[in-house]
Amino acid sequence: MQEAKKVRLLIVDDAQEAREFLCTLLEMNGYVCVPAAGAAEARDLLQQQVFELALCDVNLPGESGLSLVRAILAKHPDTATIMVTAMDDQRIADVALEQGAYGYVIKPFEPNEILISVANALRRRKLEQENRANRERLEQVVLARTAELRETIVRLEQTERALRQAQEEAIQRLVMAAEFREKGSPSHIQRMSRYCALMASRLGWANERCELIRLASTMHDIGKIGTPDEIVFKPDGFTPEESRVMQQHTEIGRRLLSGSAELLKVASTIAWTHHERFDGSGYPRGLVGETIPLEGRIAAIADAFDAITTRRVYKQALPVEQAVDVMRLGRGRHFDAQLLSLFLDSIDQVHAIQRQYPDPERKAAS
Ligand SMILES: [Fe+2]
Repeated sequence: MQEAKKVRLLIVDDAQEAREFLCTLLEMNGYVCVPAAGAAEARDLLQQQVFELALCDVNLPGESGLSLVRAILAKHPDTATIMVTAMDDQRIADVALEQGAYGYVIKPFEPNEILISVANALRRRKLEQENRANRERLEQVVLARTAELRETIVRLEQTERALRQAQEEAIQRLVMAAEFREKGSPSHIQRMSRYCALMASRLGWANERCELIRLASTMHDIGKIGTPDEIVFKPDGFTPEESRVMQQHTEIGRRLLSGSAELLKVASTIAWTHHERFDGSGYPRGLVGETIPLEGRIAAIADAFDAITTRRVYKQALPVEQAVDVMRLGRGRHFDAQLLSLFLDSIDQVHAIQRQYPDPERKAAS
């Protein structure tokens, strides 16, 4: 037993005869034994040396063997323990085993009984050490994988942010290109789209969905790029035929924006339906009430309010108080009554958006 010779055992017993007997027996079987006459001496030895196993008597002067076993388990978890005692008491045995002792041997014992208990305790200690090492290795692997996963998520989020930013920039350029030919209100898109997001937020939509309608609504008039210059730039009223052509910007917008991405779907819906009216008198399809998609009903309010409160070539801007009265006239006729209430109840936030996005040369009415 080459390996057993290296195994160091601590023998704790206040009876010199018992200590010597155990030491002799175990050393004859290849173990290295260090005797201790009490708990204090045992604690000192454990501080100085490494023991694979401690055999402890239950009744020790000053401190009980059970207390010593508890201390060993707490401070030296790699040291296995066996109680050796003359007390044939099942309750003490239970307590000792519950506390973590590997065995409980009752005096008088047969030499083989001690040798088998020691061998079993050492085997169990070895298995537990291997288990602990495996668990620690596994924990390290999990920690490393978790860190990798976290890094991947951060990279993905960065990529997603960059993509979203690129998408928003591309949309802004497209909208700018469409607005370039018009002499309308330069910040109309900024305000109108934020009014849409404000109403969505008041409806309790998730932030992501509010952001989606904000971005999608910027493209509501994109179809005007298909409207001839002589109609777009006409200073006076339209003939019935010109009106019909102008109204086609909703259909052109729908076709331009049709696609499978959620943003395009919402944008296409808004472009198609932002001139529908709740009472069915709108265009292009004359939809009535809630058959008009919610996004279209929201955009209709946002678009109309900004048009009323902004100066155009052909009209002055109305102050907000008067604009609110005009909007109220459209309740249930032009606009969805519930959505209109929601919007007008948020008039302070509407003001804040107006202040944040004024037109560069002529400020929006306030
Ligand atoms: Fe429009």
